[in-house]
Amino acid sequence: MPVTPPVPPTPPTPFDGSAGILADRRIAQHWTQRWDRQQEEFLPEREALFDALIDVVQESAGRPDPVVVDLGCGPGSIGARLLRRLPEATVVSVDADPVLIALGRGAYGDVRGLRFVAADLRRSGWVDRLGLDRPADAVVSSTALHWLDPSVLTSVYTAAAGLLRPGGVLVNCDELERDQEAAPTLARLDRALLTREKDRRLGAGHGEDWYEWWERILAEPALATAVAERERQGFDGEHHSDLSAGAEVHRTALRDAGFAEVGTLWRRGEVQLLCAVTASPDGPTVPERPHTHNNAPAPRP
Ligand SMILES: C[S@@+](CC[C@H](N)C(=O)[O-])C[C@H]1O[C@@H](n2cnc3c(N)ncnc32)[C@H](O)[C@@H]1O
Repeated sequence: MPVTPPVPPTPPTPFDGSAGILADRRIAQHWTQRWDRQQEEFLPEREALFDALIDVVQESAGRPDPVVVDLGCGPGSIGARLLRRLPEATVVSVDADPVLIALGRGAYGDVRGLRFVAADLRRSGWVDRLGLDRPADAVVSSTALHWLDPSVLTSVYTAAAGLLRPGGVLVNCDELERDQEAAPTLARLDRALLTREKDRRLGAGHGEDWYEWWERILAEPALATAVAERERQGFDGEHHSDLSAGAEVHRTALRDAGFAEVGTLWRRGEVQLLCAVTASPDGPTVPERPHTHNNAPAPRP
């Protein structure tokens, strides 16, 4: 009896986000502003952190037109800010969530140099979709990479190292826990610094939180196509793993990925700006700046 070969499952249509763009720019901007407010509730000094992150990109790139990749970009908050400071830069902003990509394209679609790519960092093809025409000067990220399982995290950091030029930087701002076993008191103090800061800042009452924002945006009629795509993909905005919450997991993954230098440039409790640098045969590519311990203006090199 002839055997009918099994019909292979139809692969899901790749999503490029083009159909779901929130066409009304004012509505898109309204929602991105609300996004920024709810993100600030989690991340004290978010704007100052982004300023510092952009300082690192600017200082290490040494050119006015760096190529920057933003991993887990959300609606593009970093890209929009970076291009305000460095209008000649190119920022390729990557995210898996169709709603956030649609929102970012709606709000910032006219920002020259900013491009959104809909891709899931857990799938190996994301690097090919970036369309870079030269090695990146910086790979940046904010509060996104702790969503990934540690094995995926190492692959993502390895891919990022491969995207970067020698002496290029990876800069990740995130809330990352200190090793509880090695330093239990410091780990508690790290957490307490954030809790106390949030209690002071939000003592008068919380604004819209993550869950409220999501509940409301998923009901936004202007985003119905992107919301349907999100449901089709089963992307639910939940962390894929809770095993990448520790700072040491990230440092280890960065070292395993081959970065030559790994360290924290800024921190407040658990919130930190973690930076890793790819090896450069010519030594440090960042110019040395003089120390200034008083108010005297520093001579510029
Ligand atoms: C807390 S949000 C931060 C967004 C943005 N970086 C910011 O600071 O506004 C985390 C982001 O990571 C994205 N993300 C999570 N898992 C991802 C994955 N596997 N691939 C791509 N993006 C992912 C989410 O969709 C979300 O936009």
